[in-house]
Amino acid sequence: MRHVLNITDLSVSEIDSLIATAMDIIGNREKYQDICRRKKLATLFFEPSTRTRLSFEAAMLELGGSVIGFSSASSSSSSKGESVSDTVKVVSYYADIIAMRHPKEGAPVAASAVSGVPIINAGDGGHNHPTQTLADLLTIHREKGRFNDLTVGFCGDLKFGRTVHSLVSALSRYCGINLVFISPDELKIPQYIITDIVNKNHMPYIETRDMESVMPTLDILYMTRVQGERFFNEADYVRLKDYYILTPDKLAAAKPDMCVMHPLPRVNEISRTIDSDPRACYFKQVENGKYMRMALIMMLLGLTPEI
Ligand code: NCD
Repeated sequence: MRHVLNITDLSVSEIDSLIATAMDIIGNREKYQDICRRKKLATLFFEPSTRTRLSFEAAMLELGGSVIGFSSASSSSSSKGESVSDTVKVVSYYADIIAMRHPKEGAPVAASAVSGVPIINAGDGGHNHPTQTLADLLTIHREKGRFNDLTVGFCGDLKFGRTVHSLVSALSRYCGINLVFISPDELKIPQYIITDIVNKNHMPYIETRDMESVMPTLDILYMTRVQGERFFNEADYVRLKDYYILTPDKLAAAKPDMCVMHPLPRVNEISRTIDSDPRACYFKQVENGKYMRMALIMMLLGLTPEI
């Protein structure tokens, strides 16, 4: 039995095969429509979500399976004081696979220790978000056709932005990746990411506060929202939330084929006027996320379509 708690729980060749499956699903939807018949996915969301939960649910429904679950801690027995481990142990008697999101870093690891079915981490606090990274990787594959030799800028809340941490981790396994971390001092990328991932893999990187000066160098600009819910101090959030706003005049300095990515939800950090720019890829990430989750569910359940 496999769990996916961290993006590196999947090897590079497994990621290649998930991408190949996702591309096949895109071209042959009907081939996959019954593959998860009589299988159940449980979505245990102890923290709010629109995209990730509905994407998992849509993925399972498109595979012919069914879905049970809850969308907030307040509607589960955790509001009565039940531990995550007990909730997961119980649900693993009802479902074949579990996708869980929790505000505490490491909660999915605790869950995996007691679960009788595969656990997929759908985001744990400010730590990891491996299935968003699968969506990001399929988007990079479709837009750029490669994972090597890319200059990737990450902009915004690099401290609490778990999608950033997981994507940096995924990219650390490819060659020729230059990282550009763009953030205010208060929201810099955590030191453990620099030590354990960036330096360990000899990845060249720079840190800057200035988005405009690095814009012409980037192949990908990965924007993020300032994660207000993880701040201890409302005044800091208010001061930092609009630190970066990508507008058409800033984008004018970018390469004509740069990809603007964002895991969504967007607040103010990308002007809506960018949405019609061909470089805007954030809604493509949403679509790609569903296909990669379909591929991942099949892989973890050991299911392949009949040819
Ligand atoms: C992200 C998350 O939950 O970390 N959203 C998502 O899953 N697409 C990003 C965010 O909430 O800012």
